[in-house]
Amino acid sequence: MKRTLISALVLTGMSFTTIAAEQDAFKVKPYLQNPTSSSMTIMWLTTDNKPGELKVSGEGYTESFTSQPEPATGLQYFPTEVEKYFQGKDQATTPYIHHIQVSGLKPGTQYQYSVEQNNQQYDAQFNTVPTKDGKVRFVVYSDSETEPESTGKTRRWSEPYGDFDRQYLVDQTVGYQENIRVMFERQPDFIAIAGDLVESGNEQRDWDEFWRHNAGEFNNIASFVPLFSAIGNHENYPGPDGGLAEYDTELAQQAIARYKTYFDVPDNGSNNAAYKDRYYRVDYGPITYITIDTSDGKPNKTDKDTNWRLEGVNAPDFNPGSEQYKWLEIQLADAQKNSQFTFVQFHHIPYSVGPHGFPTGSNGFEKGEDNQSGVPVRVLTPLFEKYGVDAVFAGHDEMYEHSVVDGIHFYDAGIGGDGLRGPYFGKDGKYKVDMDNPYQTYLAHLDAPEVWQGKQLVSGGKHYGHLEVNVFQNDQGQWLTEISPVYVFPIMDTSGKVTDWERRVYDDVVTLKAE
Ligand SMILES: [Fe+2]
Ligand SMILES: [Fe+2]
Repeated sequence: MKRTLISALVLTGMSFTTIAAEQDAFKVKPYLQNPTSSSMTIMWLTTDNKPGELKVSGEGYTESFTSQPEPATGLQYFPTEVEKYFQGKDQATTPYIHHIQVSGLKPGTQYQYSVEQNNQQYDAQFNTVPTKDGKVRFVVYSDSETEPESTGKTRRWSEPYGDFDRQYLVDQTVGYQENIRVMFERQPDFIAIAGDLVESGNEQRDWDEFWRHNAGEFNNIASFVPLFSAIGNHENYPGPDGGLAEYDTELAQQAIARYKTYFDVPDNGSNNAAYKDRYYRVDYGPITYITIDTSDGKPNKTDKDTNWRLEGVNAPDFNPGSEQYKWLEIQLADAQKNSQFTFVQFHHIPYSVGPHGFPTGSNGFEKGEDNQSGVPVRVLTPLFEKYGVDAVFAGHDEMYEHSVVDGIHFYDAGIGGDGLRGPYFGKDGKYKVDMDNPYQTYLAHLDAPEVWQGKQLVSGGKHYGHLEVNVFQNDQGQWLTEISPVYVFPIMDTSGKVTDWERRVYDDVVTLKAE
């Protein structure tokens, strides 16, 4: 299949803008972080230390800024990477990160910006957060798990009741590209990623690949739409020097340092420096969007632990009594009073028929246990119920699965760009261990049956995708949230070749009313 060329033209809302295709001044193109109703943070990375010029204009506002590039010491390549992938050529140089917060802006307003770096000009635009009566559209997905090796590598796409080892129609790179292209066309206000952004958090090439998709040669959606991400287990992966049987603590900490370098999020007020940027709250017009870190429940190797292989890293616990739990309760109580809707995102889906839906334990899938289980996070459900959380967005099991627990909608939206799992261990599962999720209301794998005409898939099936969430007021002034599970459907010719893509929505659209 020919890869769709999308780097030359980008959608800017009103017109198409050409991006210079020659030698790029940017290692990562300018991208948006930490939006508020009066400010926006713009970041970019370069391979040299020259300052860049940022110009912002709109609605009577014109301002220029000069960046102060800082060496991003955490983003060096491993000697192993240099040796293996760069023929020993010195790629171990430290990149430079540019970070400018633009303030004094008006709410719900569009601004143009341009960054001039090494005589190359880059143009994009952003919107500030609207006031509390503004409407909001956002997209959420999980598990992009980028790495250069995704190109040419397809994922297992098991049939509902048949071939367990069938492979998907296109590779992961194309799948993620098409997914992002569809998101961008819908012009969301922000994009939330519920963890597992990269394959291995401590492999720099995997981060390079993530930004190639989001602010680079494949797409530049993050130049126009801010990203809010959560930390998944893959963000703790030790990189090319470490195995995964046990995550090496020091390597996992280096991995998290890479993650933190890229993202600028609101302060969570923790006095523990290690917890900074790992959980945070965003108020976006009428909604509150809370991100928490479920990557390592404590005590280690108990039924409270989401990752038995990760030990002693400075991850904040999420269990009752922990600092993060107390913070979460305060935010939820406040959001219930002050926002129309409250959403929470984290990585580990607590209700699932995938392998991470098994109870936590070390005896393996054959015995119905998983040492990276999402089940421990169920401990937070009573808190979500108490404070009227509307929906919880997660991933980790890489399915589209929707569950309703005590009126709260839980989503595994882990179909960003890597896996396409089905219910591994249930009806068609390899290990034939009985597993059930009594809260499940929709599972793409089974509830959207594939319809084939010869070699052509006509409809249904489990594909790459995301959730699109629209928050708005109807004519009667009632606040509504509509959650649509979107998938990117591969259009095939009669020979079974994928020739095009189409945005489709699973028959599982939910509308919530604010109380
Ligand atoms: Fe994943
Ligand atoms: Fe995961």
